[in-house]
Amino acid sequence: MSLVELSEVTKTYDVSPPVHALCGVNLTVGEGERVAVLGRSGSGKSTLLNIVGLLDEPSSGSYLLAGRDVAAANDKVRDGLRAAFLGFVFQESHVLGNRTVAQNVWLGLMASGVPRAERGDLTQGVLERVGLTHRSDSLGRLLSGGEKQRLAVARAVVTSPKLLLADEPTGNLDDANAASILDLFDSQSATGVAVLVITHDARTARWADRVVRLVDGKMQPVLRSEL
Ligand SMILES: Nc1ncnc2c1ncn2[C@@H]1O[C@H](COP(=O)(O)OP(=O)(O)OP(=O)(O)O)[C@@H](O)[C@H]1O
Ligand SMILES: [Mg+2]
Repeated sequence: MSLVELSEVTKTYDVSPPVHALCGVNLTVGEGERVAVLGRSGSGKSTLLNIVGLLDEPSSGSYLLAGRDVAAANDKVRDGLRAAFLGFVFQESHVLGNRTVAQNVWLGLMASGVPRAERGDLTQGVLERVGLTHRSDSLGRLLSGGEKQRLAVARAVVTSPKLLLADEPTGNLDDANAASILDLFDSQSATGVAVLVITHDARTARWADRVVRLVDGKMQPVLRSEL
């Protein structure tokens, strides 16, 4: 069974004139699979990630998450599935600038409903894994770009998701920092976590098991030789 199965998904934004952001997208992501999504600005990448991440609903088509039909699930069900299955690493990473690194992770665990007694150990463990232990007590806004991205990854993986959704996680990072983000993703996929990543970065695309491209809301396969 695939973790994610989108069939003929469309998304039309109801503005004037309407925007057809996704036009009949089919996509499957298996357990532990690393899938990269390429595409020009405006091609529908973030729209796709929002739908897979249960932050938005398709206009038509079907979406099965772990075999469950979620295309029209209500907010409560979506919230529960997000907490149980999904981890997000967004472009701006949404690090809380006036909270410490440790608080950023701790608050994420709280939001996901992890009991208070477990939060401290989980926070310490994940900060060690992403190499931020020495910055635990620094304010989020004082981190470098690469450190912010690693903190964002720490928050996304600390709840043990089945699927990591990332929007340009290596954008604006130097080679070493980008490589360390991909290493963190690798350690996740090695334990069966699937990764769906939007990227403009050829290296991230080559790292993925499978690469697809969105062109005006339509999905095309990308051959290894094109990368
Ligand atoms: N809430 C919205 N209302 C109306 N139109 C929208 C909305 N969100 C996105 N769009 C439009 O839908 C299309 C796809 O947008 P989307 O954000 O998915 O693109 P993208 O591929 O992520 O682009 P980028 O690389 O610039 O982030 C664009 O034409 C965009 O202007
Ligand atoms: Mg986008």
